[in-house]
Amino acid sequence: MNANDEARRAPFSIDDRDGGAGGDDASTRLAEAIRDRTARVAVIGQGYVGLPLSVEFARAGYAVVGIDTDPDRIAAITIGQSPTPDIPSDALQAVTGTGRYRATTDFARLDDADVVIICVPTPLRKSKDPDISFVASAAAQVAARFRSGQLIVLESTTYPGTTEELLAPLFEARGARVGVDVFLAFSPERIDPGNATYKMKDIPKIVGGVTETCTHLAALLYRQVVAGVREVSSPKVAELAKLYENVFRNVNIALANEFAIMCRRLGVSSREVIDAAATKPFGFLPFYPGPGIGGHCIAVDPFYLSWKMRLNGYEARFVHLADEINGAMPSYVVQLVAEALNERRRCLNGARILALGVAYKRAVGDTRESPALEVLQSLRERGAVVSYADPYVPSIVIGDAELKAVPASDENVAASDCVVVLTDHPDFDYARVTAHAPLVVDARNATWGIVAPDARVVRL
Ligand SMILES: NC(=O)c1ccc[n+]([C@@H]2O[C@H](COP(=O)([O-])OP(=O)(O)OC[C@H]3O[C@@H](n4cnc5c(N)ncnc54)[C@H](O)[C@@H]3O)[C@@H](O)[C@H]2O)c1
Repeated sequence: MNANDEARRAPFSIDDRDGGAGGDDASTRLAEAIRDRTARVAVIGQGYVGLPLSVEFARAGYAVVGIDTDPDRIAAITIGQSPTPDIPSDALQAVTGTGRYRATTDFARLDDADVVIICVPTPLRKSKDPDISFVASAAAQVAARFRSGQLIVLESTTYPGTTEELLAPLFEARGARVGVDVFLAFSPERIDPGNATYKMKDIPKIVGGVTETCTHLAALLYRQVVAGVREVSSPKVAELAKLYENVFRNVNIALANEFAIMCRRLGVSSREVIDAAATKPFGFLPFYPGPGIGGHCIAVDPFYLSWKMRLNGYEARFVHLADEINGAMPSYVVQLVAEALNERRRCLNGARILALGVAYKRAVGDTRESPALEVLQSLRERGAVVSYADPYVPSIVIGDAELKAVPASDENVAASDCVVVLTDHPDFDYARVTAHAPLVVDARNATWGIVAPDARVVRL
């Protein structure tokens, strides 16, 4: 057993429940600083995850520095303009006004930090393999400035093993003993941007440290700002818990999508079937069909698991089947539009199509991986004249064209040959849309329950 293995087995020395154990080691000093809120927190990545987290720690009384490589983002944050919908600009200004939160591109600010939390992107390469370069680069910056006694937490969703296989060696290579003079943990972010019921502080955190001391320090930290913390036995458990949550959602959406295709063939509304099944008070959780999977998480994260499993000689079959079904949904929606026009003796080529919503989900302006973009691209390639309405997304690029949002006005709706609902934003008046549109293809069942002549509304 080498020194680092011994360090990783170091006994747990922090007990928040009895107010803290004695001793004068680095972990005890850090625990005290976390408890009395003098610990200085650095959050790397100031996006959907990192900015709300920074604001939450600043609100709790910590001095927080938010670091991001994007100078435009930092400039906007510095003048109080929030780039993230979950943090209104006035809420951002409230914390910058206290002086407890500052945003910067300068990694030298890590020198002052007692706690560093990494919230950078984890996208896919074109091959659908993980692109871990942002995490590797951020972690290298932290390791290069490592100071004894720091707690480092990775929050980015990633493959099982990242914390121990990629991050720990960076610190160990600089002579640090994980669990003794640097504390390392994984704690996945589980936010749902745009969800008014469950904000960051309402969602329990899962925390898995490399050693027990790492786990308890990270849990102590998060207990200061969130409703609950579940400590697990290793970073790998925490990494896998996040992946399981997202694979669960991905697979169940795929099931709902395939079910919707089968229901259409049988002449039955999938929405009516799912809502009826959802009356069962146990053993059933409703998921609803749509034009495909989007966003930075559900569409991406399952591949972090399947990639790792492939390295272990195992094919993650559910992940691949769900991807196949969900990935075919944009084409299925285009097919529905073409068929519905055809039944009315119109062809897609030359048809004026107004899309309602291009964000990947309701009430947000995030178009990353949005299936709506693929639907619009495909409609344009088939000769349709495409426009879109989305109160959250002012413009989009489809192929070589930039489209600007138009209002979902009665005139625009009536002037189209077909309205296709791709995102069920609460802002649209679906009753008015169905009343004025010559034809609606509703890929979100947003018009469900609205009485309209059946011939004019096609639902998924
Ligand atoms: N957005 C969500 O709903 C959500 C939910 C749960 C988990 N996550 C996970 O959290 C992580 C971050 O996601 P996000 O949505 O906040 O991404 P984001 O793109 O909104 O923000 C990431 C930020 O990190 C910055 N960045 C990139 N590389 C950097 C580096 N080396 N150093 C400093 N800053 C860097 C980018 O400029 C960007 O501002 C991802 O792993 C994602 O899967 C996201």
